[in-house]
Amino acid sequence: MVKMIMHGCNGKMGQVISAICREDEGIEIVAGVDPYQGTQNPYPVFPTIGECTVNADVVVDFAAAQAVDSLLAYCVAHKLPLVLCTTGLTEEQLKKVEEAGKEVAVLKSANMSLGINVLLDALQKVANVLAPAGFDMEIVEKHHNQKVDAPSGTALALADAINGALGNEYQYCYDRTKERKKREKKEIGIQAVRGGSIVGEHEVIFAGLDEVIEIRHTAYSKGIFGKGAVEAAKFLAGKPAGKYGMEDVIGAGKL
Ligand SMILES: NC(=O)c1ccc[n+]([C@@H]2O[C@H](COP(=O)([O-])OP(=O)(O)OC[C@H]3O[C@@H](n4cnc5c(N)ncnc54)[C@H](O)[C@@H]3O)[C@@H](O)[C@H]2O)c1
Repeated sequence: MVKMIMHGCNGKMGQVISAICREDEGIEIVAGVDPYQGTQNPYPVFPTIGECTVNADVVVDFAAAQAVDSLLAYCVAHKLPLVLCTTGLTEEQLKKVEEAGKEVAVLKSANMSLGINVLLDALQKVANVLAPAGFDMEIVEKHHNQKVDAPSGTALALADAINGALGNEYQYCYDRTKERKKREKKEIGIQAVRGGSIVGEHEVIFAGLDEVIEIRHTAYSKGIFGKGAVEAAKFLAGKPAGKYGMEDVIGAGKL
């Protein structure tokens, strides 16, 4: 049985994961961390990770970007593998994630769903054929009105997958209103829409001369991220230091 700390346990994702773990005999939440203390949980909840005194095999994080620095320091100090799912990290924090990965196992993914991770792989193949043929590439993402970061971490991961497959020569364009000019050829446009309770929609558009391909992933519930995170936690517990991704979990037949 894997023992897990849920960082951000009283948030939307923290509660989704608490419900999944209650039904899963392979994993148990032994402690939660959240400054918000107004939710009843069947495990002790500490206001900050630094105050957590419970031993565990792995930490799953869905909290806030400003909490990531102390979380990384805690995981390194306690030699705890970390499934890092919070998005909107700064460049400086991303460097700290890299450093932590030299000391403990860190799996960071902007999107824990099977569908998006399959799409990340497929996009590289599609872009390799269509970009040299002159297709323009644009990404449109839609999320609920409570989301604080834009564009979504997933939209950036999709763009990075395409860009990586094409030799990282493309610039990202987030705003076409500043300058009156045509789009650059080596550009990936990324647009964010916010409204209502949309769980998450990502559309990648390949627009060529007289033909367009649109590839869309729609998340209908947060359960898809929760399931991925729980399987990632089981996968990561006991793993040696290093950088891991959802492709490792999928490759191990865990999703
Ligand atoms: N990687 C993915 O697949 C994926 C999927 C969904 C959401 N997310 C990301 O996960 C994060 C959380 O999403 P959510 O919808 O659950 O948000 P939420 O706002 O509902 O929950 C965040 C929780 O973190 C808590 N928190 C704030 N500061 C904290 C700290 N210092 N230590 C511990 N907990 C703290 C808050 O009190 C809150 O309960 C966001 O960054 C979101 O973008 C990632």
